[in-house]
Amino acid sequence: MADITLRQVEEKDLERCFEIETVSYGDEAASKEKIEKRIRTYPEGFVVLENQNGVIGFINSGATHKVELSDEAFKELVGHDASGKHIVVMSVVVHPDYQGKGHAGVLMKSFIHSMMVLGKSDIYLICQEALIGMYTKYGFKDLGPSDSDHGGLSWHEMSLDLRN
Ligand SMILES: CC(C)(COP(=O)(O)OP(=O)(O)OC[C@H]1O[C@@H](n2cnc3c(N)ncnc32)[C@H](O)[C@@H]1OP(=O)(O)O)[C@@H](O)C(=O)NCCC(=O)NCCS
Repeated sequence: MADITLRQVEEKDLERCFEIETVSYGDEAASKEKIEKRIRTYPEGFVVLENQNGVIGFINSGATHKVELSDEAFKELVGHDASGKHIVVMSVVVHPDYQGKGHAGVLMKSFIHSMMVLGKSDIYLICQEALIGMYTKYGFKDLGPSDSDHGGLSWHEMSLDLRN
């Protein structure tokens, strides 16, 4: 994994992040407007991974005092408060050309470290059943099925306690 760097998102990354989101998530992809809002509102919770060709993956999130994982409005950061102790992840994504090479793991470890440095207490996300094993490897616990029907699919809720 040569020449990999991690950094906070910048406004210039919008087009590339939208491209990666669209090609990787398909029907479940966030709109360009949602991604722009996440970049502008909470860049501290938006990590991008770059190689020599540019951005190849990212994780974005919001912070809150009260976690409601089935709340679709939070994806537009309605209810987000940067001082909130809980982090809710919206996208974990690696461009298909670069998947299967450990990049999601590098991104997640960096993201977890950044949230610890910010003093956050935990990280929440929802995922498809097939990815429970991946997040378990990073220390997340399966909280069971979610009420969310995002994209018409069924989801699991997972969380990682950062205070241990
Ligand atoms: C899921 C995703 C982020 C993984 O990125 P990646 O860089 O390919 O993942 P990594 O190479 O770091 O793999 C991490 C581990 O998860 C496993 N994994 C990766 N993708 C997986 C998948 N789709 N299903 C099950 N396991 C998967 C890998 O086998 C690997 O395990 P290993 O270390 O035991 O081999 C990427 O496939 C993606 O962007 N998918 C589309 C968007 C998406 O579904 N994101 C998750 C939303 S909850």
